[in-house]
Amino acid sequence: MAEKVKSHAPIRLAVNGQPHDLLVQPNWTLQHLLHDQLGLLGVKEFCDRGACGACSVILDGSVVLSCMVLAIQCDGRSVETVEGIAAAGHPLIESYVKYSCMQCGFCTPGFVVAAKALLDRNPDPTEREVMEGLAGNLCRCGTYPQHIKAVLEAAEILRGAAPGASGGAAEATGDTRAAREVTR
Ligand code: FES
Ligand code: FES
Repeated sequence: MAEKVKSHAPIRLAVNGQPHDLLVQPNWTLQHLLHDQLGLLGVKEFCDRGACGACSVILDGSVVLSCMVLAIQCDGRSVETVEGIAAAGHPLIESYVKYSCMQCGFCTPGFVVAAKALLDRNPDPTEREVMEGLAGNLCRCGTYPQHIKAVLEAAEILRGAAPGASGGAAEATGDTRAAREVTR
């Protein structure tokens, strides 16, 4: 039997600052659109049910789980992924590498996205606030303590304060090695 043809709908979506005119199927998730159609491989699918945070992106300034958002709902909106955060040379990228926040690295892009959103709304978080900001992200490798150090240091750098006793992450340069580590 011939496969039923699904209709596509047009949407306009800004992805990491670049406008895209796209045709999407009604059942596509935002995660599928970004990862499978646009090749943004940092937008991971793991649980596909809103439970792990691996697919986190920033949609109009708020973190969302892209596996739980339909692409067709995103017409006229703006999305930021870990690739955009890395391309902008955000200090989180260097601090995540410095503090070895990744083992297998599968969860890392989602953590970086959640951390970036946290620092956007709260540039001087406490340790407790970092833990709360990252509470929706799971790491099966157990790297949680490292994330807190990395986020606090990136916050210091963004505020222009001298990094703590640890010496500070390398200056954010958009370094391709660090960006590869974090977005893979
Ligand atoms: S893949 Fe979306 S929350 Fe786990
Ligand atoms: S580093 Fe492996 S799941 Fe987090």
